[in-house]
Amino acid sequence: MKIQSDVSLQPYNTFGIAVKARLFARFDSVQELQELLQMPELAREEKLVLGGGSNLLFTKDFAGVVLQNGIKGIEKVSETDSYTLVKAGGGEVWHEFVLYTLQHDLGGAENLSLIPGTVGAAPLQNIGAYGVELKDIFYELEAVHIETGQVQTFDHAACGFGYRESVFKGELKGQFIVTAVTFKLQKKHTLNTSYGAIQSTLEEMQVQQPTIQDVSRAVCHIRQSKLPDPKTIGNAGSFFKNPEIPLSQYESLKAQFPDIPSYPVTPTTVKVPAGWLIEQCGWKGKVIDNYGVHKNQALVLVNYGGASGQAVRQLAYTIIDSVAEKFGIRLHPEVNIL
Ligand code: EPU
Repeated sequence: MKIQSDVSLQPYNTFGIAVKARLFARFDSVQELQELLQMPELAREEKLVLGGGSNLLFTKDFAGVVLQNGIKGIEKVSETDSYTLVKAGGGEVWHEFVLYTLQHDLGGAENLSLIPGTVGAAPLQNIGAYGVELKDIFYELEAVHIETGQVQTFDHAACGFGYRESVFKGELKGQFIVTAVTFKLQKKHTLNTSYGAIQSTLEEMQVQQPTIQDVSRAVCHIRQSKLPDPKTIGNAGSFFKNPEIPLSQYESLKAQFPDIPSYPVTPTTVKVPAGWLIEQCGWKGKVIDNYGVHKNQALVLVNYGGASGQAVRQLAYTIIDSVAEKFGIRLHPEVNIL
């Protein structure tokens, strides 16, 4: 394995920010990763594992070592009458895994079509879209402990999944590298089309009895019409999380802003779409030099080419302040700012 110096990270982050890593190495197996972790010259370096680089914003060069997960492979590990367990390497592109499930007629991942990133990064923030989260199809994962190099298996409960959260973003942050994820997929499908736009898109597509393949096509259609393709316009998907607020706060906001949307979370809390709050503050479609807020989805910050990470971060903070001033709600970034 080669360790390279001063490597541009521009091709490795979907925001397209031009920063450099002081050291860079790629691993294609658990063994190669373990060998890298044992190298004395890397022992004291700060480590950053890159999946698809689709959920981070670089604001400066990375002074340690960037490790790129190249572990591939998707295989069926076991099955019963009702479900199949499929194991995928952490370096697999997420959508390639979704395509595998569709080709094998296995249900559960179709609503998560076209989410940028890799299989190994997906559990970290419990990726989700259109009414489904990774935790709904997750079985277990294998991860290498950075300190000891040992492989550890985490079952569902051990991952502590929450809304765009897991134990790997919380108490175990920076301690493990996910090398494989096993999913539990249904042979008899239960479609989840309740998320508004899916049903209407299927109707537009004139599909009467949708299959998982149809749902995937609908999701791809919705995503492509709303979200910018990182290959054309740099972005990291939703930049902020949708805030969860007390019902009492929501009710007083509703008196002032009758159109404010919400989704129930618990009997006493609701989630409010951050995209709506940001749009109400006048940010949607705003262009500042070579970066800004996407015109179709105010939750997505974009780099039109050549923007610096600091400038995008500054925009994010300005948006947070303006939403706090108008609505008394503090937004929190969903992307990792480094
Ligand atoms: N809205 C606006 N203006 C906007 C954007 C949204 O008013 O510019 C309002 C609309 O009322 C809309 C509602 O927000 O009905 C919800 O919008 P959307 O369906 O686009 O979903 P979201 O809540 O903004 C979340 C996820 C997305 C995911 C979609 C679909 C988060 C932080 N984001 O966005 O995930 O694709 O739902 O399920 O939870 C991502 O995490 O990177 C991501 C793209």
